[in-house]
Amino acid sequence: MVQGSPFVVVANRLPVDEVTDDTPSSRTSGGRRWRPSPGGLVTALHPVLAEHKGTWIGWSGTPGPAPDPFEVDGIKLVPMSLSEDEVERYYEGQSNATIWPLYHDNVEPPIFRRRWRDTYREVNRRYAAAAAKVAAPGATVWVQDYQLQLVPAMLREQRPDLLIGFFLHIPFPPIELFMQLPQRAEVLRGLLGADLVGFQQRLGAQNFLRLSKHLLGTPYSGSTLEYEGRKVKAEAFPISIDFAEMQRLADNPLVRERAKQIRAELGDPKTVILGVDRLDYTKGIEHRLKAFRELLADGKLSVPESVMVQVATPSRERVEHYQALRVKVEREVGRINGDFGKVGVPAVHYLHQSYSRSELAALYCAADVMMVTPLRDGMNLVAKEYVAARAENGGALVLSEFAGAAGELRQAFLCNPHDLDGVKDALMRAVTVDEGEARRRMSIMQRHLRKHDVAAWASEFLDSLAEIGGTEKNRL
Ligand code: ADP
Ligand code: G6P
Repeated sequence: MVQGSPFVVVANRLPVDEVTDDTPSSRTSGGRRWRPSPGGLVTALHPVLAEHKGTWIGWSGTPGPAPDPFEVDGIKLVPMSLSEDEVERYYEGQSNATIWPLYHDNVEPPIFRRRWRDTYREVNRRYAAAAAKVAAPGATVWVQDYQLQLVPAMLREQRPDLLIGFFLHIPFPPIELFMQLPQRAEVLRGLLGADLVGFQQRLGAQNFLRLSKHLLGTPYSGSTLEYEGRKVKAEAFPISIDFAEMQRLADNPLVRERAKQIRAELGDPKTVILGVDRLDYTKGIEHRLKAFRELLADGKLSVPESVMVQVATPSRERVEHYQALRVKVEREVGRINGDFGKVGVPAVHYLHQSYSRSELAALYCAADVMMVTPLRDGMNLVAKEYVAARAENGGALVLSEFAGAAGELRQAFLCNPHDLDGVKDALMRAVTVDEGEARRRMSIMQRHLRKHDVAAWASEFLDSLAEIGGTEKNRL
């Protein structure tokens, strides 16, 4: 059994993917093989976890009994088991049909079910117990995201010696939305169990501070509030990407060659317009398809000079809103191709698939215009990845004002995705921008991201948490 880690990450999912081929870097555990998943969070936390012999607690992604704890590249992994029922109620239900839509501005109506809440609580309790078991005395525990909002308080109850951080990867809603949540006081008290609660944007932190005062009468000053005789800090830490990794990939001759090949396969159009998202109703996929269709109908764009590639990664496929979205998106793609495609040249290439990092990098390199048009998004890493991949190539980013990334990527072609004419206008400006201007915009955004990468994000959060820990100790 894993014991006594000075640094523990608790997240819904483990940072590894199960491998089915013969990848040499994979590790075995109970007959199953794993490798680190390519996400930015893993890359950011890997050095900290490796240096401190850290532990990551999370679910393997499939229902049923969990494999035994194992190690991948110096990180101890403690898999959590979720039964079929728990996947349905805690993951698909309370996390992704109640909290996800509510925190994303109610863009789809959240569904409230009592039995989902009960299971959410039970599963959160199990994650907290697992963290309490592996954390060394005085350890730092960093809890991630909306699936585990009750964990900080549950953990503190069992282990008051721990320094507890929480980071919310999605937006934190304004008071009037949060107040709809039947479990609202419990969720808020859950988060207040942390010493530091991190948000993507300042607005999220402010919403949280105001909500605590409104719901629990907790006084605050600046970013610090007082709760049950403790200080809790709420601040913004905008997450970022592994900029160097994406730049390296985009510089790789094989990736460049693949980008050329992609353009050739698309019929060497003048303009390749790209969208890359999980197939999620928060991402504004339909809105951007509609803007493209209207520009084709207006004659401002035409096939085969302009083509669109929409990658829509399968996601949460058993949740009703996601099934409905898939039908709507696929109908719209069919309509556009029916009206504007030519034999052998569809107007929209729609790919409901997952890709490797290098294939994604090749797509970014191949695209003249990247469309990121969420109705609401905590950050949106795809926008940042596209910028990182465009080293010398210019290219233009159309970006929704409602993505957290819009707070940093000010040289993008910003738009309001609800305003169709505005989206069309931003897309046309991106398509027609001259090369010098495109390069100028891209290089300003790159300069920003080179400095504000995911490693900077993790160390800012952890330094801030350590400072709180230091202050606490000084007070005692
Ligand atoms: P979200 O976290 O809501 O899915 P983000 O844009 O912040 O949205 O992050 C998505 C991450 O998933 C990015 O790192 C992106 O590269 C990756 N990704 C998106 N689509 C695919 C895909 N089809 N295959 C593999 N990775 C993908
Ligand atoms: C968002 C959430 C993450 C989640 C990811 C993929 O980024 O903030 O917590 O892991 O989407 O969603 P999934 O439901 O497949 O884990």
